[in-house]
Amino acid sequence: MANNVGLPPGPLPAEGGDAGSLRSQSNAAQPRGGPSAELLLEATGLHSYYGVSHILHGVDFSVARGECIGLMGRNGMGKTTLLKSMLGLVRPKQGSVRVRGRDMTQAAPHAIARAGIAYVPEGRGIFPNLTVRENLVMAARAGVDGRKEWDFERVMATFPRLGERINNGGAQLSGGEQQMLTIGRALMTNPDLLILDEATEGLAPLIAKEIWNIIRTIRASGIATVIVDKNYGAVMNLADRSVVIVKGRVVFAGTPSELTDNEELMHRFLGV
Ligand SMILES: Nc1ncnc2c1ncn2[C@@H]1O[C@H](COP(=O)(O)OP(=O)(O)OP(=O)(O)O)[C@@H](O)[C@H]1O
Ligand SMILES: [Mg+2]
Repeated sequence: MANNVGLPPGPLPAEGGDAGSLRSQSNAAQPRGGPSAELLLEATGLHSYYGVSHILHGVDFSVARGECIGLMGRNGMGKTTLLKSMLGLVRPKQGSVRVRGRDMTQAAPHAIARAGIAYVPEGRGIFPNLTVRENLVMAARAGVDGRKEWDFERVMATFPRLGERINNGGAQLSGGEQQMLTIGRALMTNPDLLILDEATEGLAPLIAKEIWNIIRTIRASGIATVIVDKNYGAVMNLADRSVVIVKGRVVFAGTPSELTDNEELMHRFLGV
């Protein structure tokens, strides 16, 4: 798959013919830790399709160690497809995916997970017939470098609400509790990068707030995060960088304030 030339880390390159594009020139758009920070995940020139529908049109996307990225865009713009294309769940027709510099473009989802990338998908990914404890324990493993910072006790301390439900079956949990369990399962794998797709969707405001606090804690623990959520305010509060997708193209990559300070961009790209 030598169909794509790797681009150096750093700000996204401008592409010709993409008139609506705006890419930040400021250093603040660099990954946390500066341009030399290790790239955990790097997608270059991704083109993905469902059947004949061309969804991603040459997307570049990268995440450095410890970085928090808010991936934004209106419904149906390709956010989930981009995530799946980097995780082996959708096969890009063109472009490359690297994990820690290693080409994993055609790798299977479990291999990408083993490389330290955890995914909390839209909807919930728990085992309804297993208890909370069983769901967590069966997900446990050391991180890529043998780290075991996140174990059963730490997950319990982070999600006291789950502690009260430890012997309940997954199916007996509320929507918010199931979401917490899904995130807890992801943490049990000791990932370097946690990808959250609509983690607060459909949750009552108080529960959503708890989830945001937990995401904040995870971010502070040094795990890199990619957050997709309709609550743009909450996303941009946490993010080091915002990336906006419109119709399968990256139209903005910069700091959250560069986006929020620009009403015209907020309106044009996000409809707010
Ligand atoms: N399995 C599929 N088969 C065919 N088309 C699909 C499939 N999944 C998504 N699409 C289409 O691909 C486009 C991008 O969808 P995607 O789910 O990536 O968008 P999104 O930005 O995540 O949207 P949302 O905010 O609603 O989750 C949409 O037009 C959608 O209808
Ligand atoms: Mg989606």
